[in-house]
Amino acid sequence: MNGQLPKFLYFTIYHGGHFKKFVNKISKDFCILVKVFKTVDAVVRALTPSYPVYCFRPHVFHNLASSFLQEFPGRVLYAVKCNPHLEVLKALYNAGIRHFDTASLPEIALIRENFPDAAIYFMHPVKGRAVIKTAYHVYNVDNFVVDYQNELDKIIEETGGGSGLTIFVRLKTPPVEGTFYHLADKFGASVAEAVQMLQQAQSMGCQLGLAFHVGSQCLHPEAYLQALKIVAETLKQAKVNLHFLDVGGGFPSQYMGQKIAGLAEYVKSIETGLQAISLRRDCVLMCEPGRALVAEGMSMVVQVLLRKGNQLYINDGIYGSLSETVTAKLKLPTRLIRFKKPVSTDIISYTINGCSCDSLDVLSTTFDLPADVVEGDWIEIDRIGAYSNALASHFNGFYPEAAVIVEDEPFSSLHPRFLKSND
Ligand SMILES: Cc1ncc(COP(=O)(O)O)c(C=O)c1O
Repeated sequence: MNGQLPKFLYFTIYHGGHFKKFVNKISKDFCILVKVFKTVDAVVRALTPSYPVYCFRPHVFHNLASSFLQEFPGRVLYAVKCNPHLEVLKALYNAGIRHFDTASLPEIALIRENFPDAAIYFMHPVKGRAVIKTAYHVYNVDNFVVDYQNELDKIIEETGGGSGLTIFVRLKTPPVEGTFYHLADKFGASVAEAVQMLQQAQSMGCQLGLAFHVGSQCLHPEAYLQALKIVAETLKQAKVNLHFLDVGGGFPSQYMGQKIAGLAEYVKSIETGLQAISLRRDCVLMCEPGRALVAEGMSMVVQVLLRKGNQLYINDGIYGSLSETVTAKLKLPTRLIRFKKPVSTDIISYTINGCSCDSLDVLSTTFDLPADVVEGDWIEIDRIGAYSNALASHFNGFYPEAAVIVEDEPFSSLHPRFLKSND
């Protein structure tokens, strides 16, 4: 059965025995005017924006992806959930990314329609039957992850199994101190469960993969080594032929006040872990980075709506693109933009209130800015390429609607003092 590929900006799902078409809002580009500017200051001069503006730097995404591709000794999948904006995807694709980790039909449709030659992996461990069926039959996805017997049963039943299908079994890994999100609380099979699923998938003629995710923004390279010990134990018990080994995402990005090891340290830890596992020579090593490929490539310009003492009210917030300042206590580099009069050289910390009419909408971390901020000033917030626009809601009717491309370098990379924390 081969359904017609849906048109751009739509995705399809089986519904009441038929295909049903929905608007695909995932990339959120249709409400956005993408223009190219030399610098962020030029953006502010030209637009004097009263709304938040995303500033994409394709050359930074390109450089991050190129060096990751060069350093990682295997296949690099980009985790689309981290930032699905088309400008981001295009930059990563142009840098050589040809494999995408997706978690939903809208993400799958977005990749299939824009990059028809790219490989798609459905790496959400829990999927509806209609979604599995549509992914397989309409979008020709044949890589699926599972972490529970019933999920494997669903996939075999909806696809028929067989050698065209690759089943990745996702393992539970221990919590790693300091990660932003410990994903193994929600997902992952025990060794015994994984052994059973691998053996069943093999008996159905499927190709086999093992996967894990050590947690987002993992500051400890040895976490991958520990996870690979669980892989080794699983394979020892399962006695199956593994075609793919996926070490997941979690590779960190440099934020304020954090010390991160280079990718080489992570690769060393992974290679050490691999030495203790006897894998087929043609087993493909894979990873699924999100944050490490995109965090540095985007900033956002917001405007100050009101100042009350050392509290600022800005036109974005935790229901917009700044939710990680609460969920991950992320402290972001900020700089003031004002053209009319000089800016104070004294820097103070401001409490930041989001734009919604909700008292929860207050950032958990402060912004360090000149002491004389006034209503109408703009603030550029750097390093928000990861889990920002992807998480923004329409709560209270607020939503960033503008995006531009800028050609300058991120200010926090040019001046590393911006990455120090006063907290
Ligand atoms: C299955 C999966 N793969 C990859 C990623 C990307 O992780 P990160 O952005 O930490 O690299 C995530 C993030 O939640 C995920 O759930």
